[in-house]
Amino acid sequence: MYLKLVFVILILLSSLTQARTNYSEKGIITYKKLCKQCHGNPYKGGAMLKKKEWKKMFKDEDKKFIKVHMNNKKAMHTLNKSYYKNRRRYLVKFLVSSASDSGVVPSCDGNFCGD
Ligand code: HEC
Repeated sequence: MYLKLVFVILILLSSLTQARTNYSEKGIITYKKLCKQCHGNPYKGGAMLKKKEWKKMFKDEDKKFIKVHMNNKKAMHTLNKSYYKNRRRYLVKFLVSSASDSGVVPSCDGNFCGD
């Protein structure tokens, strides 16, 4: 009986921590690889725009997102990488979830502090 309880608690704990580490992690890694060099740490980057504005950026196959980077060769090179195309959905998810109106405090959120 006691053992069973410990077991249940362990499972609960591990699913909790897993949910936390999975939280936007792929998006953060993608951001660090592609955007950090120009826009600073991930949470600062996310806070550049509001949720709605991020969604607009990536509408119609990134139309607006490409437009804002049009004049920057290096940025355009980054956006044409297959790495960007493959991981774009994680990145978008992260950016929307850490938008300036998302309630996430820029730079720290308990399991991650911007470096
Ligand atoms: C090589 C540099 C570079 C890279 C890489 C880059 N950007 Fe940019 N970004 C710029 C420049 C330059 C601008 C236009 C000037 C500005 O608004 O700061 C810009 C503009 C933006 C804007 C518009 C800001 C506004 O206020 O309207 C957003 C949002 C943005 N970038 C997000 C990203 C994201 C997300 C990534 C990663 C996929 C990324 N950028 C990659 C250089 C870069």
